[in-house]
Amino acid sequence: MAVERTLFLVKPDAVQRGLAGEIIKRLESRGLKIVGLKLMQVSRATAEKHYGEHKGKPFFEGLVSFITSAPVVAAVFEGTNAIEIVRATNGATNPAKAAPGTVRADFGLEMGRNLVHASDSPASAAREIKIFFKPSELIDWKRDTDAWIYE
Ligand code: RTP
Ligand code: MG
Repeated sequence: MAVERTLFLVKPDAVQRGLAGEIIKRLESRGLKIVGLKLMQVSRATAEKHYGEHKGKPFFEGLVSFITSAPVVAAVFEGTNAIEIVRATNGATNPAKAAPGTVRADFGLEMGRNLVHASDSPASAAREIKIFFKPSELIDWKRDTDAWIYE
């Protein structure tokens, strides 16, 4: 399994509800390593770029206005299989269908207020990380606990 990096967003609903720390903690506790982290106000241009694959869909406008409506916490997590691990921790897109124990099931009810975003493939991760972070904002660091997380 490859070491991957993935873009993770705590969306405006979760930030407004004071859940950012609790949600990030779940990923940190799993063993994923934070290599980038910031609070930011997403501009319309950034939102449209990030959600470019959904342009033309009926929910696109609502999605862009939601993600730009209040600050998000943007993060890059690193670890083996990080892309799949983070999406599994987030749960199904629709909180009503998400498995208990996932972020979306534990904290949400509706698709349009589903608290979190995560990249869905290595190509998406590379594209999305570049949209949200400058190279200088990502830190390569050695974590002393890795020997207790990785065999
Ligand atoms: P995400 O990108 O947020 O990690 O979630 P995802 O891959 O599971 O979902 P995606 O298909 O990429 O959709 C992005 C976000 O758009 C909203 N959405 N609404 N009303 C709808 O049919 C609909 N479909 C998607 C959700 O907020 C979803 O997270
Ligand atoms: Mg997606």
